[in-house]
Amino acid sequence: INVDGKTFELPTLSGSENEKAIDIAKLRDLSGYVTYDPGFKNTGATKSAITFLDGEEGILRYRGYSIEELADKATFLEVAYLLINGELPTQIQLDSFANAIKAEAVVNDSIVKVSNAFPKEGHPMCEIAALVGSMSAFYDVDGNEDPEKSILRLIAQLPIMATWWYKKSIGEGINQADTSLDYCSDFLQLMFKTPGSSYQVDPIVSKALNKLLILHADHEQNCSTSTVRLVGSSHASLYASISAGINALWGPLHGGANQEVIEMLEAIKADGGDTEKYIAMAKDKNSGFRLMGFGHRVYKNFDPRAKIIKKAADDVLSALGVNDPVLGIASHLEQAALNDEYFVARKLYPNVDFYSGIIYRALGIPTNMFTVMFAIGRLPGWIAQWKEMRANKEPIGRPRQIYTGATERAFVEI
Ligand code: MLT
Repeated sequence: INVDGKTFELPTLSGSENEKAIDIAKLRDLSGYVTYDPGFKNTGATKSAITFLDGEEGILRYRGYSIEELADKATFLEVAYLLINGELPTQIQLDSFANAIKAEAVVNDSIVKVSNAFPKEGHPMCEIAALVGSMSAFYDVDGNEDPEKSILRLIAQLPIMATWWYKKSIGEGINQADTSLDYCSDFLQLMFKTPGSSYQVDPIVSKALNKLLILHADHEQNCSTSTVRLVGSSHASLYASISAGINALWGPLHGGANQEVIEMLEAIKADGGDTEKYIAMAKDKNSGFRLMGFGHRVYKNFDPRAKIIKKAADDVLSALGVNDPVLGIASHLEQAALNDEYFVARKLYPNVDFYSGIIYRALGIPTNMFTVMFAIGRLPGWIAQWKEMRANKEPIGRPRQIYTGATERAFVEI
């Protein structure tokens, strides 16, 4: 074949499967034009009817419904129901779903003890992954719990457990769920109410949180979702699979990115706040500086979630009257990226992580907990993907390997 004036000889693709794979790998290394996805079990080959994503056009839909419409009109629990069951609920179905979740909003005392054993200096993602993993030991001792029960428990208890690290970090006792409140308002009182005193949930904050959770609820196959499917494919419990997904999400290249964004902004501020200097560094490959929260692997256009979240960030900041120099720096970087030829040509638009960190900061969520918030939002998506994988009776995942090590060697005794 001839590509850009260069001629490549295609491998014959005969011989064993391994030989074919090695041929393709060689071709890829030689030419740079052909890529072979070594983890294809988890990417191209995954069939799913949950989330539609078109990176070229910047389209995202859950079960066929546009993300814009859902973020504007639905509640997070409606979206959770939609993702998990495939249909939007009727009012009766939604009430019964919400009540069943409220009925599970008391965490087993022993799990509180497990949380108390974690140091407040530890990262909350480490603690929350361990607590979710421990749910198998406390709720599913013989491994026979009805998955529908596990689903309700996870949706009810993940946000409760998520607030424990925060309470510990500020030296306050934990709160109990208030079942008179909606899902997002309850999370806010669990987080910010000082036990024994009264607390009024700000509807602006609750609405913004609802939107953020909806925008994060699923994103087809990605590192954490594929992990949940892969771990679940061995028929490990839902708790174990979700715990694995939380660990996968923790990394700075995935859910940890919104934390990295705020840390980068803090570092720029500490260095005098000269955004021009950092824009120039971002363009210089040798500077070692990377702009966090810009560009996305699948979106060749603006991340549709970022568009919605940007508007929400502007509304929340002006409604709450937040005046934060770090957010001023964010706004300069954003404008530079949207107007600068270099960024436009490379489609390095601010992504969902850039804006979500900004809103979480304005809502008073500590930076270390940004990824935990992502996990609370992503939970229904992980559950839906796990359920789909099991319903389709998918075989155990076993990514294909291309062996690149030494050929047979003789052992020499020392
Ligand atoms: C996500 O929402 O999961 C992230 O954008 C990462 C991804 O999709 O790869």
